[in-house]
Amino acid sequence: MIALKDKVEAGFHAAFGDASELIAAAPGRVNLIGEHTDYNDGFVMPMAIGVGTLVAARRRTDGVLRVAALDLSETTEFPLSSPVPHALDGDWSNYVRGVAAALVESGLALAGADLAIAGNVPQGAGLSSSASLEMATGLALAALAGVPDHDRTALALAGQSAEHHYAGCQCGIMDQLVSARAEAGNAVLIDCRDLSARSVAMGAELAVLIVHSGIRRGLVDGEYNLRRQQCEAAARAMQIPALRDADPAALVAARAAMDPVAYRRARHVITENARTLAAADALTAGDLASLGRLMSASHASMRDDFEITTPEIDRLAAAMAQFLGNRGGARMTGGGFGGAVIAIARRSDIEALRDEVASTYRTPAGAVPQLMIEVPADGARLI
Ligand code: GLA
Repeated sequence: MIALKDKVEAGFHAAFGDASELIAAAPGRVNLIGEHTDYNDGFVMPMAIGVGTLVAARRRTDGVLRVAALDLSETTEFPLSSPVPHALDGDWSNYVRGVAAALVESGLALAGADLAIAGNVPQGAGLSSSASLEMATGLALAALAGVPDHDRTALALAGQSAEHHYAGCQCGIMDQLVSARAEAGNAVLIDCRDLSARSVAMGAELAVLIVHSGIRRGLVDGEYNLRRQQCEAAARAMQIPALRDADPAALVAARAAMDPVAYRRARHVITENARTLAAADALTAGDLASLGRLMSASHASMRDDFEITTPEIDRLAAAMAQFLGNRGGARMTGGGFGGAVIAIARRSDIEALRDEVASTYRTPAGAVPQLMIEVPADGARLI
């Protein structure tokens, strides 16, 4: 992050001709377990990672937001009174516009700002580069408005609003909440109904290996939103507010009332909620054998019932799980259709696993995959 800090400071100066007033940082995340459960009011257990986004900021008084994306060498500016979504799908500025709009709407006294942004979260890896951009932007704007300790859950909701209304992804709240609220050393068990979060300590002897499959995923391409609609249809068929409220027996009882696809989607969510709670207990107890079984079952459920994995990712996750045996676990992480596979294990095993993956797995482009060894990092903060 030190090199990134130098980069945003220098980049801010080059773009706006003066020094920044403050710098906000927010991490990317990896989800240990609990996939596609967040928008069903369920449970997730992510942790923040050591890569993230930095935003250097300075106040303006003319109601304008000027933004320099240093990694892309692009700039944009817009009046805070009408931060219209950019015409381009997938454009980075949608996240900035959406967060600024949500915060202004919530009453934040913001009279304009200059922002310079730089980050090091790999894109398309399912590691929430967009949530880290949203949370760093939100914290920078809140601090400029005189509220550096702005409620972190409110920041997360502003980020989610940007995804919904500006980026076109009907995402849940997991990525933004963990980026805003994580604590070093701990994974976070989040109840996505009441947005309460409980720290789950990860033993110092454990680490997470993140393997970027090299298969890029696009959340905005419709499959994600389709999964959400299918889950909501299943909940309607069961006459419950959300799949969080169902158990396996209730699902079986309602089988005749829903189509087979909705049934399988619901079965994933219902069983994944139970696995997530069990995994929090297993992680707390340092029970790697149980954790490994839960992670394998989670992957199988994403593959067979939620249908968000790919054959290459299935092979990679299976090979990693097999290498670890009962000494840890592996599964795809994030929204799906590509992205990263993770393993949790003791550090000594993680290093051997990293070597094994580097020598056996190749991305679709034929390259050695990008490998990251991570422990739980801090959430958004001013640096
Ligand atoms: C994306 C979304 C999250 C969550 C995951 C899947 O990361 O942004 O809200 O739904 O996919 O678990």
